Amino acid sequence: MHFDVLLRHIPRVVAALSLTVFLVGCGPPAAEENTTAGQSPAGTRQPAGARYTIGMSQCNLNEPWRVQMNADIKTAAEQHPELKVVFKDAQNDTLKQRQHVEEFVSAKVDLLLISPKEAQPLTEPVARAMDAGVPVIVLDRRLLGDKYTCFIGADNKKIGRAAGEWIVKTLGGKGKVVELKGLMTSTPGQDRHSGFREAIEGSGIEVIFDADMHWLEPDARKEMESALSRFEQIDLVYAHNDPAAHGAYLAARAAGREKDMKFVGIDALPQEGVAYVKQGILDATFRYPTGGAEAIDAVLKILAKESVEKDITLGSRLFTKENVNEGGLELP
Ligand code: FRU
Repeated sequence: MHFDVLLRHIPRVVAALSLTVFLVGCGPPAAEENTTAGQSPAGTRQPAGARYTIGMSQCNLNEPWRVQMNADIKTAAEQHPELKVVFKDAQNDTLKQRQHVEEFVSAKVDLLLISPKEAQPLTEPVARAMDAGVPVIVLDRRLLGDKYTCFIGADNKKIGRAAGEWIVKTLGGKGKVVELKGLMTSTPGQDRHSGFREAIEGSGIEVIFDADMHWLEPDARKEMESALSRFEQIDLVYAHNDPAAHGAYLAARAAGREKDMKFVGIDALPQEGVAYVKQGILDATFRYPTGGAEAIDAVLKILAKESVEKDITLGSRLFTKENVNEGGLELP
């Protein structure tokens, strides 16, 4: 090839090289990030026909309940080919979750979904997303103030109160109770605690031990071990979620004391809390819906510039051995 012919090819070679660099730069998503799987052909990240990218920041994926929330979002989103959902898992790390929110805003997602680990530290990054024009739907755990587009979740204070009322009734108005609290810097922990305390006030129910188990089964098990070593009589354990109620049960069983007390939890996933009630491990659990399907309904409305309610409150159900085979009882 003559030198002048070679020169004529240079722009094309440079273009090909730049394209390669660009494609490598847009390589596969980071480990904690994945899109609505099954929709995107290999090598591309955009489901065919997707017009909107939704960022979903999940605070943790170690509890079955959060895995279910993501699955519910994914299932609902898959009915709408115009949506692509990118999931990020903050692995129970608040700083990482703040960073995820910032990354979604820089990537100019059309809408942000977030289930925040803690209220205070996630409030500001979400406010900044709103300032940047990204609508935000907050799921299950609240932020401080009202700088978000829409909140979707069950009424945790009401669930805490219902748990307290059930406990007063079941123990005949008096007894010694252990309370294993969810992370107290998150609003469900605060509300499940205050609702419960309101309901038992003036009764003969005495909380002899309480501890923050950070929503985690291993922490709950450890706290229960210290409660068991300190108190000879424990009539009931009220745990703010089913993993913690299960952890407490395992601690009591290891001490040979599980038959001496009752166990109450919250979440009531069919494969978790409801199954525990059927197996006689838990005496009661309250459903805490994930809101995944409702989130996608709200996403569609917001993208269509229709109005959505600022607060969408989901219902709950009580499951006990008496009603579990009939699908539980709706809370009034
Ligand atoms: C999962 C979880 C649930 C609980 C919810 C509260 O991380 O702990 O068990 O109901 O979060 O936000």
